Amino acid sequence: MCGIVGYAGDRPAWSVLLGGLKRLEYRGYDSSGIAVANGGEPYLMRAVGKLNALDDIVKGAPPEGATGIGHTRWATHGRPTELNAHPHKEGSVTVVHNGIVENYLSLRDELIKDGATFKSETDTEILAHLIEREHASNIPLEEAVRKAMLRVQGSYALGVISAREPGRIIGAKKECPLIVGIGDGENFLASDVLAVLDATKEVIFLEDDEFVTIEKESYTVKDADGKEIAKESRTINWSPAMAEKGGYRHFMKKEIFEQPEAVIDTMRGRLMEAEGDIFLGGFNTKDLDGIERIYILGCGTSWHAALVGKFLIEEFARIPVEVDLSSEFRYRDPLVGRNTLVIAISQSGETADTLAAIGKARKEGAKIISICNVLESSLTRVSDYNLMTHAGPEIGVASTKAFTTQLVAIYLLALYLGRRRNRRDQVLGIDPVRGIDQERGVELVQELLHLPHQIKEILENDDAIERLARAYTHNTDFLYLGRSINYPIALEGALKLKEISYIHAEGYPAGEMKHGPIALIDEDLPIVVLAPADESYPKMLGNMEEVKARGGRVIAVVNTGDTEAGTRADDVIEVPKASKYLTPIILTIPLQLLAYHIAAEKGTDVDQPRNLAKSVTVE
Ligand code: AGP
Repeated sequence: MCGIVGYAGDRPAWSVLLGGLKRLEYRGYDSSGIAVANGGEPYLMRAVGKLNALDDIVKGAPPEGATGIGHTRWATHGRPTELNAHPHKEGSVTVVHNGIVENYLSLRDELIKDGATFKSETDTEILAHLIEREHASNIPLEEAVRKAMLRVQGSYALGVISAREPGRIIGAKKECPLIVGIGDGENFLASDVLAVLDATKEVIFLEDDEFVTIEKESYTVKDADGKEIAKESRTINWSPAMAEKGGYRHFMKKEIFEQPEAVIDTMRGRLMEAEGDIFLGGFNTKDLDGIERIYILGCGTSWHAALVGKFLIEEFARIPVEVDLSSEFRYRDPLVGRNTLVIAISQSGETADTLAAIGKARKEGAKIISICNVLESSLTRVSDYNLMTHAGPEIGVASTKAFTTQLVAIYLLALYLGRRRNRRDQVLGIDPVRGIDQERGVELVQELLHLPHQIKEILENDDAIERLARAYTHNTDFLYLGRSINYPIALEGALKLKEISYIHAEGYPAGEMKHGPIALIDEDLPIVVLAPADESYPKMLGNMEEVKARGGRVIAVVNTGDTEAGTRADDVIEVPKASKYLTPIILTIPLQLLAYHIAAEKGTDVDQPRNLAKSVTVE
């Protein structure tokens, strides 16, 4: 995934572009570049590595000009080198691109036969050639881009400038996000609203196959036939401060500490306390009443939320739920039909595998609900219903507040379905009545209302968790054990640790330990045991005994006041007692802090870990 920005106005373009790229750096960070034009040929500056490398070069000799485009890259075609960094220039045309040109080889062959020579290994350079070929025969830039893109299979968000049309930027979109920021005497193009938030909150979300021409005082959107389209702008209520670190050393830490507020934002306006029910605006109960089977899909952390969702929905609504990784679901032949509901979970709403998986389910007639954090993302546009998590921008590559708000959202949805199920069974006279009745619903809503305070309590233990983490920075392997609804949290704890600290970690269902992983146990393998006081607690104590008997080290996460676990564990982290259904959220917080402090102590790049991108928009 890459990030693109464009600017047309009166300010020095280099400064606006670097500011926008800084806020998009989470999208890709192996190289970056800008092209700034001052009425004629643009000046290109590119650098390998984090944005600081480009920043140093640009600030050393700032290019003059008030129009420009910029790019931060996460390599797909071609290694991260300066030559492969964007922008790419051919003749009078300069291009930045996010996406993949799938028919790259055939187009490249065709262009080489036409006499083209290539300087880079990227697919993007092909686009520069294709557009230039049209533009060189006196076709205006906007039309040249439209014509060229007809030849391209794949996905793209593009920003294009021409030395022959000063002050103008053309944007084009297909399957990659692209927005227009509308300013006062200046306009912007960007992959994400974060890039423009400090200048404007008025944005237009472009649809696939739309083309925009941006100048400092105007913008025009056209369809693929060149017909002008009237687009409505939307006002974004995120503040620029949400995209800043706000005094924290890393975005990840800031986002961990934002969780009490974030979960409140997910609940806001949705709890019907007296009725013990959930209000989900825009949902049509009739669409959901006949549902016989549910699939929950996601990737990475979002898949872990899906696994918790299975427990909640099956328990509250008594509907069979299957969970699948989007990347697996899209290539198998799942049993999906008109009575199937697919719940797609994605922070970004741009994950290629998840989009492909729901595309497949839709074709079979399934209804789609998305649980998503990004307004107007691709996922929200193709879903029947959207349950937005409202976590605010998540910049750290390791998902934290997005995950806990996904868990709150799936709890709300499960309760909503449970209450519907209960009413329907009563009306139909089914015995015994299933689902959640009003009394139980009231209890479940009340328990949820305690959650923000409980998260705050855990965050107050940050110093103690930091001290504990210091003792484990030299370990090279970790095992995380959890059972039942908390098994996915063992997976999530392990994923957090490995992605930001590069320590190998595995999550395991505790009952499976004796079927294999027990062979790994020795004094060098710390085992994080999730042991809240629920019905599996005695079994988790048993797991701890097994580890200790083999010389392993136990870090136990238990409820406050637990007196048993301490006698078996080397280290204990206490969390407040919550309802069984909210324990996954409660247990997640100390695991996030543990991973964060181990990584911060090791000095890894916590917010932008190597080889990862915030959302994976390619397969
Ligand atoms: C989370 O820490 C990861 N960086 C990653 O697994 C992520 O959850 C996954 O790529 C899915 O992203 P999405 O939620 O935006 O679809």
